[in-house]
Amino acid sequence: MIKVRGLSFSYGDVKVLEDISFEVDYGEFVGVIGPNGSGKTTLLKCLCRLLKPLGVVYLDGEKISEMTHDKLARLLSYISSENDSSVNSMSVFDIVSTGRTPYMKKFWWESVEDEEIIFKSIEIVGLKDLYKKRVGELSSGEKQMVKIARALSQSPKIFLVDEPTVHLDLKHQLEVMNILKNLTVREGKIVIAVLHDLNLASIYADKILVLNNGRIIAQGKPYEVLREELLGRVYGVKVRVIVDSEFEQPIIIPYLGR
Ligand SMILES: Nc1ncnc2c1ncn2[C@@H]1O[C@H](COP(=O)(O)OP(=O)(O)OP(=O)(O)O)[C@@H](O)[C@H]1O
Ligand SMILES: [Mg+2]
Repeated sequence: MIKVRGLSFSYGDVKVLEDISFEVDYGEFVGVIGPNGSGKTTLLKCLCRLLKPLGVVYLDGEKISEMTHDKLARLLSYISSENDSSVNSMSVFDIVSTGRTPYMKKFWWESVEDEEIIFKSIEIVGLKDLYKKRVGELSSGEKQMVKIARALSQSPKIFLVDEPTVHLDLKHQLEVMNILKNLTVREGKIVIAVLHDLNLASIYADKILVLNNGRIIAQGKPYEVLREELLGRVYGVKVRVIVDSEFEQPIIIPYLGR
């Protein structure tokens, strides 16, 4: 499990995360929501040690600050919301194969097992026919799928995903969300996903963390957190929350005020 205790982080002398504490069990899908600039990406970067916060992050009882780089990479994968243009000339296969790096210390090349995992990951995200194509020649949505496939090939226990549905059409949004959800339901993994779409958060998340000005101001099940008053206060807009009769999940509708 992940246990975060008293985490805070500053860029220079500007504090952007303050006193963050939460826990996530295996098998849980956690949605992180909050306005632009509230600290969501910074939080994910602290959890994967790209940034060094104050406070402690425990992973299975061990402090991540004390783990070796390879051990952390085998346990945890971070999928950034940004695209890295320096990899544009690499093929889909080559990018996805970099997910196996933490397992390939002794060899220059992938084992047969690595290769199977790489192809399986490419297949899961639906890019089988494009595996030889250069990443720079893919659409934004396809690039997003490559990042997901790379994380899958890393076979970690924990996926930290920043805005996984950005650039994706409705069908592909649901495909990615289903891939991530299945990791938690079928394989008992942890997924922590930053989501701007509150309805996707409502449908898929077991637990939602609400960040505002660098603090967690609410956490709990979707129906506990996604409330008109709280969302109005956090986002500064009026919303209506209705409960879907079939799935009993809150559905958020922007209030047009007419
Ligand atoms: N590299 C950086 N140097 C200095 N300040 C930064 C840096 N990255 C982010 N910040 C600031 O930290 C705060 C939190 O940024 P962060 O990217 O974590 O927000 P976010 O919740 O992910 O926002 P968004 O929804 O827009 O992606 C913002 O005020 C931002 O301007
Ligand atoms: Mg962000």
